[in-house]
Amino acid sequence: MLRGGKVGLRARHEEDIPVLRAELYNDVVNSSRAESGPWRPVAPGAKDPRLVVDDNKEQGSVPFSVVELAGGTLVGTATLWGIDTHNRSAHLGLGLRPAARGKGYGTDVVAVLCHYGFVVRGLHRLQIETLADNAAMLRSAERNGFVREGVLRGAGWVMGEFLDEVVLGLLAEEWKPAPGDAAG
Ligand SMILES: CC(C)(COP(=O)(O)OP(=O)(O)OC[C@H]1O[C@@H](n2cnc3c(N)ncnc32)[C@H](O)[C@@H]1OP(=O)(O)O)[C@@H](O)C(=O)NCCC(=O)NCCS
Repeated sequence: MLRGGKVGLRARHEEDIPVLRAELYNDVVNSSRAESGPWRPVAPGAKDPRLVVDDNKEQGSVPFSVVELAGGTLVGTATLWGIDTHNRSAHLGLGLRPAARGKGYGTDVVAVLCHYGFVVRGLHRLQIETLADNAAMLRSAERNGFVREGVLRGAGWVMGEFLDEVVLGLLAEEWKPAPGDAAG
């Protein structure tokens, strides 16, 4: 498990799947905002690739479940995706269960994903895309040193309207790991 200050990132367990499906993927608004595609219901037992990990197929994407370090409660998902081994870049994605938001966990998850991307995987550039009105995601990224590189105007169709997306980037040489964070 990778450890931050408050949360740990571990492998996806079978028992995580119904919880994540119910609270993140079957929530129409959350799912429509977090995914760049239309919401569809996920049937119980469906082999949804966003939830069910197939290590043989998914070399370019590393999915984690996020747990509280104190007690081990499942609080969400975190993914390093779009791993490009030539340009040594990847993207970060995360989603927390509603009850786990606003407690500093998102900021901590970004810190741990940076540790995984830069230290474990030796990447040079990490990128986050988020809706321009997602203050908590923007702040979680910027607290970890990500800088806003651009706005993709009207890039996301979300629940009946086009919203702007913000692209944030962080380079390995700019990254300042928090002392004691993500020590593995
Ligand atoms: C986005 C998300 C991962 C952020 O994680 P979080 O644990 O809620 O965020 P944190 O508690 O670490 O807060 C980060 C910062 O945002 C601020 N913040 C938190 N919630 C906020 C809100 N609703 N509005 C404005 N600011 C907010 C915090 O005060 C904090 O700022 P600070 O560092 O200046 O104190 C989480 O809210 C989430 O899962 N949301 C739904 C899914 C989603 O949007 N995923 C991202 C898709 S790109």
